[in-house]
Amino acid sequence: MLKKWWHNTVGYQIYPKSFQDTNQDGIGDLCGVIRRLDEIAQLGANVIWLCPVFTSPMVDNGYDISDYMGIDPSFGTMDDMKELIARADEKGIKILMDLVVNHSSDRHEWFQKALQDPCGEYGKYYVFREGKDGNPPNNWRSIFGGSAWERVEGRDNLYYLHIFTKEQPDLNWENPKLRGEIYEIITKWMDMGLGGFRLDAISHLKKNYSYVNLPPDGPDGYKLAFEYINNVDGLSEILREMKERTFLPTDALTIGEYDQMRPEEVEAVIGENGNFCSVFDFSHTFHDVNGEKWKGNTRALFNDYRDKLFQAQRVVGGRGMLCNFLENHDKPRCIDRFLAAADQNRYSIRMLPVTNFFFPGIVFLYQGQEIGMRNYPKVRLEEYVDKPTYAIYDRLLMQGKSPEEALEELNHASREHGRTPMQWNGEKNGGFSEAEPWFAVNPNYTWLNYEAQKEDPDSLLNFYKRMVAVRRRADLEETFIYGEFLPRYEKEDGILAYERKDEKNRVLVLTSARSETAELPFEGKVGEILLDNYAVGEKDGTGTAEETYGELTGSGNRLIVKPFQCLVLKLG
Ligand code: GLC
Ligand code: CA
Repeated sequence: MLKKWWHNTVGYQIYPKSFQDTNQDGIGDLCGVIRRLDEIAQLGANVIWLCPVFTSPMVDNGYDISDYMGIDPSFGTMDDMKELIARADEKGIKILMDLVVNHSSDRHEWFQKALQDPCGEYGKYYVFREGKDGNPPNNWRSIFGGSAWERVEGRDNLYYLHIFTKEQPDLNWENPKLRGEIYEIITKWMDMGLGGFRLDAISHLKKNYSYVNLPPDGPDGYKLAFEYINNVDGLSEILREMKERTFLPTDALTIGEYDQMRPEEVEAVIGENGNFCSVFDFSHTFHDVNGEKWKGNTRALFNDYRDKLFQAQRVVGGRGMLCNFLENHDKPRCIDRFLAAADQNRYSIRMLPVTNFFFPGIVFLYQGQEIGMRNYPKVRLEEYVDKPTYAIYDRLLMQGKSPEEALEELNHASREHGRTPMQWNGEKNGGFSEAEPWFAVNPNYTWLNYEAQKEDPDSLLNFYKRMVAVRRRADLEETFIYGEFLPRYEKEDGILAYERKDEKNRVLVLTSARSETAELPFEGKVGEILLDNYAVGEKDGTGTAEETYGELTGSGNRLIVKPFQCLVLKLG
């Protein structure tokens, strides 16, 4: 594999609105990110993915952009953005911005002009269609609920397409003029010194415009027509053109939010000459230990999680790099998503991030994950603020759930759990802001916060720091980046383990979701314990196997794995 600067990416995702407020208006801002750069550097991250900070009416917290070259005043100014790029650079951190070009905001000048004259030049930037018999052009369901078509005000029979909210009209990627405008925007931003982009909803750019009605998937008659709006034939040509015209000459890191990559397109998507550098591995998207499928059974969920992730790695087969992660701004917190309440303890919450952290590929952590932030269940529906949360709620009612049941489901499934303000310290509002925060802080900030963990060698935060440091250790880094991936103990219930191997090193990563001790057959010898969630603080990773863990090598051909243990072992 041709070596690239971004291959050693340990990224840190920031949802700016909830990260750090500095001007005390209750909204996180760019100066807040600048203020916290040291913390990010200390964690060992070398890339930041900044969720959208462009000018926006904030219907979807910035995923509805009304000016691609502007910074939203609630986040700061263009000078702040430039300063962030420069200051991050000084610390060896590259900034990725979030490119949201499947749709714009309905407040974007292009859309406003399009509304005035849907048949004119800007009308072709969007997707306008005539309705049928007083109905929308077809029965596609929006991903965020309701029809994917909105009637144009003042017109009888004209609709525009929006696969997310109606304030996010889809851009028409069939139009070369629109494509050219976007490429220009990308290039201007890259010229400002960005490391690259995370590409939002990028597998949706191309649609299958055969405007047929499909068999409905709900009593409202709509159908979430994923096959017609995701990864449709012809998408690759658009992405290739985008890459060649913008990213290729700049050596940008591009990570696609690209759903359902087909095995036969791995090379074209993330291969050496692929359309992206990497795409997120979404194979665990639907894992939720509190959902109907798992009903609190951590171990069963864990087995399925392992199988799906291993399958994704096998499909890629070393031909490219997936982006491995557990949390982002669209997901509940990982501790609550993967571990049943009864299984959440000091060991399991350290074991969990190790599962896929040493996989081939690049890795991303999400703000607050490093201190173990949790979901924040609500007592009343109105405490939620995100439109899609309400769409899910409506769908649940439609499926026959009671309001109480629907709220209960949101309390473990809503993406808003990932958006509560970052908990920096035990002071007012967790140190996020002195003003009333735009979204309520989880009251557990009094004990669960960054400051409380910073000086405690045995904290989760310091465990994350050690975990990153192991991945970055000079004599091991190449093995973790380019080494072979060999699944181990694959048929063992509740065990997720793999070896990373090259000419220099063999490293065994072993994690257990069993609540009792496991004895596994083990041939070979442990050279060094790189990480162990049963070791406390500074002792971790410094002793030899013999000193610290007689039983690993001493009891003969056996590995004793304690409940929820994780081990990263250099085999000697
Ligand atoms: C992506 C974003 C999500 C957003 C959606 C629409 O999935 O991650 O937060 O709501 O796109 O832009
Ligand atoms: Ca602010």
